[in-house]
This record gives sequence, structure tokens and C-alpha cells, in this order.
Amino acid sequence: MAREINCVGVVGLGTMGAGIVEVFARNGLDVLAVEVSDAALERGRATLVGSTDRAVAKGKLAAEDRDALLGRVTFAVGLAALADVDLVIEAVPEHLDLKQRIFAELDQVCKPTAILATNTSSLSVTEISVATHRPNQVIGIHFFNPAPIMKLVEVIRTVVTEPDVVTDVEALCERLGKVDVTINDRAGFIANALLFGYLNHAVTMYESRYATREDIDAAMKLGCGLPMGPLALMDLIGLDTAYEILDTMYRRGGRDRRHAPAPLIKQMVTAGLLGRKSGRGFYAYEKAGSPVVV
Ligand code: 3HC
Repeated sequence: MAREINCVGVVGLGTMGAGIVEVFARNGLDVLAVEVSDAALERGRATLVGSTDRAVAKGKLAAEDRDALLGRVTFAVGLAALADVDLVIEAVPEHLDLKQRIFAELDQVCKPTAILATNTSSLSVTEISVATHRPNQVIGIHFFNPAPIMKLVEVIRTVVTEPDVVTDVEALCERLGKVDVTINDRAGFIANALLFGYLNHAVTMYESRYATREDIDAAMKLGCGLPMGPLALMDLIGLDTAYEILDTMYRRGGRDRRHAPAPLIKQMVTAGLLGRKSGRGFYAYEKAGSPVVV
């Protein structure tokens, strides 16, 4: 029999985590939004409030629906708050040891029937799952940025994920208004495996002065009908996240040179040029996130 999933936990309220909280709460689920400190919690809350306020200002969401949505979200510091959730999704930075520590603790804290999910972009869901005593209830649920807008969710099953966990998660995705694709645990799954070689190539082109950033982006946006060019997309994803994904795919995917991170990415990360979230990446950004060419 299918599990009832009415209350979910989200661990980590960065760009992806805050977006995932919004997706759940918009679709009537109660959400426990968890961070490691009050400051991080406040940043996550501000992202959620900012996004829903923008939707109200654009007339896409009624003010009372925004209030109801925010009323479904409880913010808490620490994983202990997740004892009663039906499903938890982790969305912390892409470091295997950090994710394994979190899953070991979730295993202790969450009720026995709870599904434990990771939003990892490129790490092995199997390696994360073995940090728990219930790897058969661990699954990947990979959202795309911006989570409230992008329709796709990749559902990643490992060799030991129970089939009913997969079908419960697929049903949940449908309830969230998303389209899911279900795949095995391979580096980059489907979308990132195809996307990141292209993004990395665009950075190499820019780094070697093959073309300007504006021309690279214009070529793909206007010539190929993509919603944004590759360098603007790197800024949206975040250069730190993009670096971790490329580096992991390079190491897990047989050292395919297409995924060897272009040196410029690491240099920009080190210099704090992370993209939209830090106000500057390949482009500079005003608060609202629109690019300012400098
Ligand atoms: N959060 C929430 N909503 C957002 C948003 C954000 N960060 N950015 C834009 N939106 C919303 C806008 O409010 C608007 O909503 P509306 O239609 O209800 O008014 C809608 O998206 C369209 O936004 P805009 O009109 O401002 O701008 P665009 O039409 O250019 O759309 C975009 C912006 C949706 C980001 C579009 O450019 C796009 O689809 N870009 C490609 C994004 C993409 O490829 N994402 C995947 C990245 S890879 C990934 O996530 C994998 C991970 O593992 C790294």
C-alpha cells in the first residue's frame, strides 16, 4: 500500500533547498525546513519570502495563498526536528562526507517508515545510502534550478531501493506538478551528464578568448533557442556547485576530459565570483538577479 506523504523535511536552505521548500508548500504539504544555524535559517526564509512575494507582485499568487503557503512551513535548527516527517530531502553542498554524516543522523532521527532522499546532482546515491541502516529506503530526487519553475525531476534508484519507495516518490512528483524520469545511479544521471560537458566547453571557449561571453551566450540563446546562454546558466547554477558537479563527474565518469573543470571556474570560485548568489560571476547582478554587463 502506498505511503501517505503529507509532511516532508528539507535539509539545507540554499538556492535549491529553499526552492524545494516552496514547491512542497505550494502543493499543500507541510514542510519542516532545517538548517545548521539561525543565520542560515534566516537566509533560507528570506529566499522563500522573496520568491513568494515576487509571485504575489506579478499577480501569479494571491496574497492569502502566499500566507497559507508560508504557514505550512516550520523552520528549525538541527535534524532532531525531523522525527515525524514522512519523507526528508537533503539539499546541502555537494560533499560526500557531509551528506553521509547527515544521512547517518537522519537514520537515527527519522521514523522507520520515512523515505530518505537526496537532491545530489552528481554524487553516488548508493554511497550516500550506505551511511544508513535502511539503504532500501534511500532514493535520489533531483530538482532543477529554479526548482519552482523547472518541470523535470530525476528520480534515482539504487540497486537496493525498494520498488514501492520508487513508486511513492513518482506519485509525489506528480502531485507536485512535475514530470519525473526514473533512472539508475550513474554520474550526472541524465540531464547533467549531457549538460555539463557543454557548459564546461563554453567556459573553455571564453577562457581562450575564442569569443566574448555575450557572443557565446547570444549564439546559444538566439541560434539554438535555449532560454539562456551557457555562461548565464553557469551563473544561475552557481560556479561553486558547477565546479563540484564537473569534478565529481570527471572522477566518477572515467576521467572524460569533457568534464575536467576548466581552470577559470576554480579561479572564479576562489575569488568569490559564484554567480547570481554572490552578485557576480561571468556577469554582475543587481539584487533582483538581472545581469548587469560590466
Ligand atoms: N526562482 C523562482 N522563480 C524564478 C526564478 C527563480 N530563481 N527565476 C525566474 N523565475 C520565474 C519568474 O518569476 C517567471 O515566473 P512567471 O512566468 O510566473 O512570471 C519565470 O520564472 C520566467 O522568468 P523571467 O520572465 O524573469 O525570465 P525568463 O523567461 O528568462 O526565465 C528562467 C528564467 C526560468 C531561469 C529561464 O531562463 C530558464 O529556463 N533558464 C534555464 C534554466 C536551466 O537550464 N536550469 C537547469 C540548470 S541545471 C540544474 O539545475 C541541475 C543542477 O544539478 C545544477
